[in-house]
Amino acid sequence: MRRPLVLGNWKMHGTLAQARQWAGAARAMAESQPQVEVGVVPAHVHLPACLELAAGSALRVGAQDLSAHGAGAYTGEVSAPMLADLGAQVVLVGHSERRQYHGEDDELVARKVAIALAHGLLPVLCVGESLEEREAGLSGEMVLRQFEAVAAHIGSEGLRGIALAYEPVWAIGTGRTASPEQAQEVHALLRSALGRHDAMLRGLVRILYGGSVKGSNASQLLAQADIDGALVGGASLVPEEFAAICRAAGEAAAQAGA
Ligand code: PGA
Repeated sequence: MRRPLVLGNWKMHGTLAQARQWAGAARAMAESQPQVEVGVVPAHVHLPACLELAAGSALRVGAQDLSAHGAGAYTGEVSAPMLADLGAQVVLVGHSERRQYHGEDDELVARKVAIALAHGLLPVLCVGESLEEREAGLSGEMVLRQFEAVAAHIGSEGLRGIALAYEPVWAIGTGRTASPEQAQEVHALLRSALGRHDAMLRGLVRILYGGSVKGSNASQLLAQADIDGALVGGASLVPEEFAAICRAAGEAAAQAGA
């Protein structure tokens, strides 16, 4: 059984004091829901404080992005070795906000995933279609294109070390969640695609759902056969909401194990 992963993506929010408070609350959830892997991805500047708070606990801490380069004259960038050196364990790659506002294409995303893997980080590869693409019936085609571009670069061996996050762009920060059925359909497509690379990957790689996940819709989403966790934006800034999502993941894991 795949252990659910619930990741809070704080994006560009919060003061240092808030980051500490949110991380403390997430740590409590990691402790109270041992069947769930709980993590947070703060802004880079808040990483050391969050890592300190997570020390000695099961809480995972990581970054929202990384450079495709290992080191060098890349002003403003943060490298995989820097993240690994701090003790970060996970990193989002190819979030739609990076693709949309920073022009990240499939090729760059693939190189970022590869360098994260090379430094022992868990890359969470984000894929998702826009509203126009969904309305044109292209959801499956878009997410498979984004996935296959990375798969071609890292191969089955690399795919073993990643997690996927399906995040329909039209559901991010909009309050408009994909229905559990809509999400499950795309998750199943991605799982089949994993299986075509190596049958073993079907059962191994976790596929998270992201896009307006909150306490009130988490259970239904997480009850789907191919949804293995949640990537949570807005609701991760509200400790009670994030806690409710972690509990829902714990319940889903208990049900699946039963
Ligand atoms: P949201 O963001 O939960 O605020 O929709 C999800 C994400 O962008 O990871």
